[in-house]
Amino acid sequence: MKGIILAGGAGSRLYPLTLVASKQLQPVYDKPMVYYPLTTLIEGGIRELCLISTPHDLPRFQQLLGDGSRFGLTIDYREQAQPEGIAQAFLIAEDFIGQDAVTLALGDNIFYGGDTFQRAFAEFKSGATIFGYHVNDPERYGVVEFDAHGKAVSIEEKPKSPKSNYAVPGLYIFDNEVIRITKNLKPSARGELEITAVNVEYMRRNELRVHRLPRGFAWLDAGTSSSLHEASAYVQTIEKRAGVKIGCPEEAAFRNGILSLSQLEEQMAKMPNCEYRAYLEHEVVAEAKRLEK
Ligand code: DAU
Repeated sequence: MKGIILAGGAGSRLYPLTLVASKQLQPVYDKPMVYYPLTTLIEGGIRELCLISTPHDLPRFQQLLGDGSRFGLTIDYREQAQPEGIAQAFLIAEDFIGQDAVTLALGDNIFYGGDTFQRAFAEFKSGATIFGYHVNDPERYGVVEFDAHGKAVSIEEKPKSPKSNYAVPGLYIFDNEVIRITKNLKPSARGELEITAVNVEYMRRNELRVHRLPRGFAWLDAGTSSSLHEASAYVQTIEKRAGVKIGCPEEAAFRNGILSLSQLEEQMAKMPNCEYRAYLEHEVVAEAKRLEK
């Protein structure tokens, strides 16, 4: 399974924050936003990643994440010249995807809690797997409607009159057919290759699974100044209360067995003295050493 993080777009809703650094590089409490979807993909077992962003912002992501070896990954980088739709990611990354299945994560979606994603990754064989999350304001999202048996019967992009309260979050698992399906898409009225149109095509073929995310699960949106602030407050609250970090890719890589203890220590040694390093040192490495004894 390959992974794509889509981190382009104009970020106009966060202006002037986005004059210098793109939306997905903004801090969400104590880390850059992109660390959160990156961690989700690592937890899902993905080792080969492609990050897509604008020609202007791509060098900043390369500076931040490098070749991925710090996290036990390989990271390829691709440019999206214009924001011509989320599904365009599959065309831009076609050679990277090759013959494999692919998970697409939006760089501004933050997830926390439970193992629904991990199970979905492990169970995935073919077709498409997406998720449904109960929200207050479904008209802002792709909206999925279920029948009495829990089967998805419609998906609409930002409908004026939503048929349910279930929004489709920005994490999608597809088989290799996604490339062919995207090639046959026509741009929507707003000139974009819509991810919802891809999902609708899988549904038409009867190859779409939609997992409802449980109540205890958090899906945060960080696309406006206030939702960015709320996401930071949420992360701070949980981290302070539980003494764990959300969205720490080094920790996820270690816990998933992609970084060994000595590799993690090597990475830590390169970090300045800071709270992030202290967390890895005291909460992750020290605990692992204690358990080894
Ligand atoms: O967040 C989940 C929602 O994301 C889904 O429920 C919707 O079905 C889906 O269309 C999308 O809606 P948004 O209104 O959030 O899409 P937006 O245009 O804001 O793009 C989402 C992210 O993807 C954003 O961080 C920018 C990036 N992006 C978007 C487009 C259209 C790109 O990098 N390139 C693009 O061409």
